[in-house]
Amino acid sequence: MKVLGIESSCDETGVAIYDSAAGMGKEGLLGHALYSQVTLHAEYGGVVPELASRDHVRKTIPLIRELLADSKVAADSLQGVAYTAGPGLAGALLVGASIGRALAWGWGIPAVAIHHMEGHLLAPLIDNPDIEFPFVALLVSGGHTQLVYVRGVGEYKLLGESLDDAAGEAFDKTAKLMGLGYPGGPSVAVLAEQGRKGVYRFPRPMVDRPGLDFSFSGLKTFTVNTFQSSAKDAQAKADIAFAFEEAVVDTLAIKCKRALQQVACKSLVVAGGVSANKRLRLRLHELVTGLDCVVHFPRPEFCTDNGAMIAYAGCLRLQAGETQDISFRVNPRWPLSALTAPTKTHS
Ligand code: KG4
Ligand code: ZN
Repeated sequence: MKVLGIESSCDETGVAIYDSAAGMGKEGLLGHALYSQVTLHAEYGGVVPELASRDHVRKTIPLIRELLADSKVAADSLQGVAYTAGPGLAGALLVGASIGRALAWGWGIPAVAIHHMEGHLLAPLIDNPDIEFPFVALLVSGGHTQLVYVRGVGEYKLLGESLDDAAGEAFDKTAKLMGLGYPGGPSVAVLAEQGRKGVYRFPRPMVDRPGLDFSFSGLKTFTVNTFQSSAKDAQAKADIAFAFEEAVVDTLAIKCKRALQQVACKSLVVAGGVSANKRLRLRLHELVTGLDCVVHFPRPEFCTDNGAMIAYAGCLRLQAGETQDISFRVNPRWPLSALTAPTKTHS
């Protein structure tokens, strides 16, 4: 089944075509394209929702045209459309959802609404469809930090989550307060490469309590206070970025270990924007080696928001017969645990 995926929940317009029948030397992913609004929002130090919606309106259709041409896929060969229906910014979601739903109607093919975090969670399977269920998923993005026990597609049990800032949000806010670029994750990570180990040691929040929840807001404040009372030279800044990143990574690793042991599972999947972080990838590889477990990440470009993960998740659900009728809606606050396994929709 050949599916067009559309992602527009925040500040990236992502489109892709996934074909479950590809194989035979051809990759499942026939093509993908991304338009990032980063420069548009950079001067505000964060995403401006109205600007995001308007830019999705301008970019989505031309990007789909470009994708079809580049991947040499005829529109009339598509068999389904998947779009992100939440969680995310209401206006931004509505753009992708209405375009996706309208295209499917015009082409006379089914459409399906996809949960953005399910897209992230399944992203490592795009290149590695043999990853077996069950696994523990660490979802680390700008809006979410969650540990989820995944029994199958749509079968998600929340084990723990952030009680305040998400990991990506902590990176973004810390970067902003330290005068670094937006988005904060990559800029802190680049600066941290020049930092020295052992100069500062920051707290690992909530690791001395039982449970699998997180809290990164205090660490952000601790980092900013340290920054304000430090020398403002480049080396001090890099040392602070290093200590902050090390504390986030360490905290995530400690909780991953705890989660794997709690549910007696040997497989960890890590996804979402922060899973692009090199130090996190390295640390989790070390962790699973010691535990005799395995860890899977998406390829770096599919860690952050993209259309491929929506096309892939959509393909799985459409193949099972799940569809969205014409009266589509978006759900800006949509808990992952509300999802169910794909089921045939009866109209
Ligand atoms: O998944 P994503 O693209 O969007 C959401 O669904 O939120 O995640 C974006 C987040 C941002 O907070 C960004 O700063 C963070 O992922 N991020 C990183 C890195 N690359 C992106 N954080 C740490 N290190 C990185 N290399
Ligand atoms: Zn995301």
